[in-house]
Amino acid sequence: MKHNIGLFILLFCFSAIFFSQTASAVPGTTVIKLSEPELNGSISLEQAIKNRRSIRQFTPEPLNIDQVAQLCWSAQGITDEEKGLRAAPSAGAIYPVQLYVALPDGLYLYNPEDHTLEKKIDRDIKPMLYTASFKQKAVQESPCIFIIAAFEKMLEAKYRGKGERFASLEAGHIAQNMLLQAVTLGLGSFPVGGFASDSVAKICKFPDRLVPLYLICVGNPIEKPSLVPAIVSMRNIASMSKQPRSIHSKRVIIILAEKRFNDADYFDVEETFQIAGISPEIASSKTGEVKGSGRNVATATKLVKDIKVDDYDAFIFIGGLGVKQFFDDRGALNLVRQANEQKKILAAIGNAPGIFARARIINGKNIACSPVERGKVTEAGADWKRTLLEVDDNIITAVGGDSARRFGSAVLTALRRQD
Ligand SMILES: Cc1cc2nc3c(=O)[nH]c(=O)nc-3n(C[C@H](O)[C@H](O)[C@H](O)COP(=O)(O)O)c2cc1C
Repeated sequence: MKHNIGLFILLFCFSAIFFSQTASAVPGTTVIKLSEPELNGSISLEQAIKNRRSIRQFTPEPLNIDQVAQLCWSAQGITDEEKGLRAAPSAGAIYPVQLYVALPDGLYLYNPEDHTLEKKIDRDIKPMLYTASFKQKAVQESPCIFIIAAFEKMLEAKYRGKGERFASLEAGHIAQNMLLQAVTLGLGSFPVGGFASDSVAKICKFPDRLVPLYLICVGNPIEKPSLVPAIVSMRNIASMSKQPRSIHSKRVIIILAEKRFNDADYFDVEETFQIAGISPEIASSKTGEVKGSGRNVATATKLVKDIKVDDYDAFIFIGGLGVKQFFDDRGALNLVRQANEQKKILAAIGNAPGIFARARIINGKNIACSPVERGKVTEAGADWKRTLLEVDDNIITAVGGDSARRFGSAVLTALRRQD
């Protein structure tokens, strides 16, 4: 797939200006809005403490973005909005620590204020972190490495001579939160203190005086932990008897217009799935190259008319000027109706929820979409919301632009919850 990077950046800048969540981001940088944290996990703190072990053997499977989000929140998330206090304690509430995460596609900085990840380096730096940690084999095999770093000098003004010690103590608090959170997510993890701090700072292109203190390696353990939640509600017992299918076995199809689909939304959604280790199929009204508004191309391998509802778990329609071709396409509208009858996940972004309106499947639903389709959506009996993203039962809709990654994450969450 060829990327027209210039246009992509232009579209991104536009959306960054248009939507407030990324107001703090430098225009042109990739910023991922993370999903809200899960606050009702089914594993108790005692069980997490009891079961935490340093696990160093992982499958190559990457973490999904919601797991990364939850780990970031456990480390540095804002837990008192009013006072701006965070998940882990900090001497004088100074918060000198910065959390970075090295994923297969690059290095990201976690911004607790807006719960986002901001891309800092656009390539996999994990092999270099492996070298900097004296070639520890387990580091090499980790699909996700968090770097806890601190501006120790920030503490010195108030706590003279104690900056180094207090920063390390804070890193320890953060690390423990993450290690325990990893247990509750069914992930394996281990902390790493054995690394060359200067090398890690250099590899991560840290600003002056930001000192790497601790690495936390996380992945899917080769041996699944036999963790039984300590408190099991009746609802959980019912759901435990049915083993959900792994997220990687879920089948997703993205439907693009033959011409002028919204490139930026498509790439954001695609990337969200790629990070989670899922490669969606692409369908259109023709196979081969299909063109986005910015002349980026994608390759469709399936015709919309040949899509069999039974073959997929989620159907994603990307908006754009060209999406109108599906508004009166009987094949597309029937596909949507059949998928809805089977309660499959139906997701649409931008003006694409207009397809759902014309298929008459959104009566009584909450729908987010671009204002151009507001009339049709309302006419179909739906409640058009001014929000960026709506999840209503099996129907997931979003405005597009800045909400595209959250939209992709919402589809992933829905897939995870499916039987
Ligand atoms: C400060 C600190 C540094 C550590 N550094 C490493 C390391 O570089 N590599 C590693 O594999 N484990 C490292 N560990 C993990 C310990 O080896 C591990 O906690 C210990 O063996 C006890 O096992 P457990 O974590 O399963 O209870 C470190 C632990 C601490 C507290």
